[in-house]
Amino acid sequence: MLKLALVFGTRPEAIKMAPLVKACQNVSSWDTRVIITGQHREMVDQVLELFDLHADYDLDIMKHGQTLSEIAERTLKGMAGIFKEWRPDLVLVHGDTSTAFAAALAAFYERIPIGHVEAGLRTDSVYNPFPEEANRRLIDVVASWYFAPTEQAAENLRQEGADPKRIFVTGNTVIDALLSVVDESFQFTTPELKELDFSRPILVVTAHRRENWGEPLVEICQALLEISARSDLQIVVAMHKNPDIQSIMKGILGDDPKITLVDAPGYQEFANLLARCTLLLTDSGGLQEEAPALHKPVLVMREVTERPEALEAGTVKLVGSTKESIVAAVLQVLTDSELYEQMSTAPNPYGDGTAAVQICAILQEKYK
Ligand code: UD1
Repeated sequence: MLKLALVFGTRPEAIKMAPLVKACQNVSSWDTRVIITGQHREMVDQVLELFDLHADYDLDIMKHGQTLSEIAERTLKGMAGIFKEWRPDLVLVHGDTSTAFAAALAAFYERIPIGHVEAGLRTDSVYNPFPEEANRRLIDVVASWYFAPTEQAAENLRQEGADPKRIFVTGNTVIDALLSVVDESFQFTTPELKELDFSRPILVVTAHRRENWGEPLVEICQALLEISARSDLQIVVAMHKNPDIQSIMKGILGDDPKITLVDAPGYQEFANLLARCTLLLTDSGGLQEEAPALHKPVLVMREVTERPEALEAGTVKLVGSTKESIVAAVLQVLTDSELYEQMSTAPNPYGDGTAAVQICAILQEKYK
C-alpha cells in the first residue's frame, strides 16, 4: 500500500492540490493523507471547506507578521516530526511557497522521495518573484518526480539536467479546480459582490506580492483612484488577509464610492466574479493561469513572469507597478476593442482540467 502525503499551507496551493487530493483518495489501495502547515489560516480553511477536504495533520504555524525564516523553521520542524512518526513513501508538494520548499527539505532529510506539482516555472531572476523563484528551484534540486504544467516548464527542467524520464507534462491542476466551481447560475453571498451591476464593466484587482509591499502598493492604489476618476468602471479590489496590505488599501481607497473593497472572498465567490468581470489587474501568479481559461484579459503588475505561455498566447500583458503604466494599460485595454478582443479570445495554454487525474494515473503506474 502506497503511503502518500500531500502537503500545502497557503490558499493557492490548497486550491491547486484539492483536485489531486480527491483523485488520490479515490485510489482505495493507497493511504493518502493531507498535511497542512497552516501558513495561511482562514484563507486555507475556506478552501478546505469548499472542496470538502479534511486535514490529517495541521501544524497551525501562522502568526501575524510571520517572517520567511519563521515559516520555514516551523514547517521544517513540524514536518520532521510527522515524517518520523508516519513515514510516507512519497511526498507531494506544490509550486513555490515557503511551505512547499521547507516540506520538501524535511522530506529530503528523511530520504523520502518528493513529487513536485507545478514544477519547472522559471523567471531566471532569483529575486523576482521573491522568494518564490528560489523556492521552486530548490525544490527541483531534491525532487524525484516533476509534474510540469506546460511543455515550456518541462523544457526548463530538462535544461537544468532533471531526468527526462521523471518529467511529465500534465497541464495545471488549477484549471481542474476552476472548472469545478465556476457556474453561470452561481449566486454571490458576499454582500459587496451581490450589489455589483454585472451589466456594466468591472475591473477586478488583487495585489499581495512581497515585491509590491510598501511604496509600489501605494502607487497601485493611486493608479486605481485615477482609473476610477477617468472611466465608468466598477472597480472591485479583493484584498489579501495580510493586515499591512489591507491598511494601505483601506486608507487610500476606502472613500471612493466607485471602488469596492472585499475582504479575501472565498474561492468560489472570487472565481465566479472573475468569470463575469471585464478585465483583471493583478500581481498574482495563479490568476495568470485562471483568467485565460475564462477568456479574461490580464494586466500583470510585475516586471517579469514565470508564465510566458499566457504572455505568448496574448491574454497577459506585463505592466509593472508604477502609477502611469497601470493607468495607461487599463485605459488602453478598455478603449481599444481590437486589443480587448485579441486578449480575451487567446487560447488557454494550461490544460483541459484533467491534470489531477493524469498525475494520479502516472503515480499509479510508477507505484504499482
Ligand atoms: C504566500 C506565498 C506566495 C503566495 C501567497 C498567496 C511564500 C513565501 N509566499 O505569501 O507565494 O502567492 O501566499 O496568498 O510562501 N494572513 C492571515 N490569514 C490568512 C493568510 C494570511 O491573516 O489566512 C496574513 C498573516 O498576517 C500573514 C500574512 O497574511 O503574516 C502574510 O502571509 P504569508 O503566508 O507570510 O505571505 P503571503 O504574502 O500570503
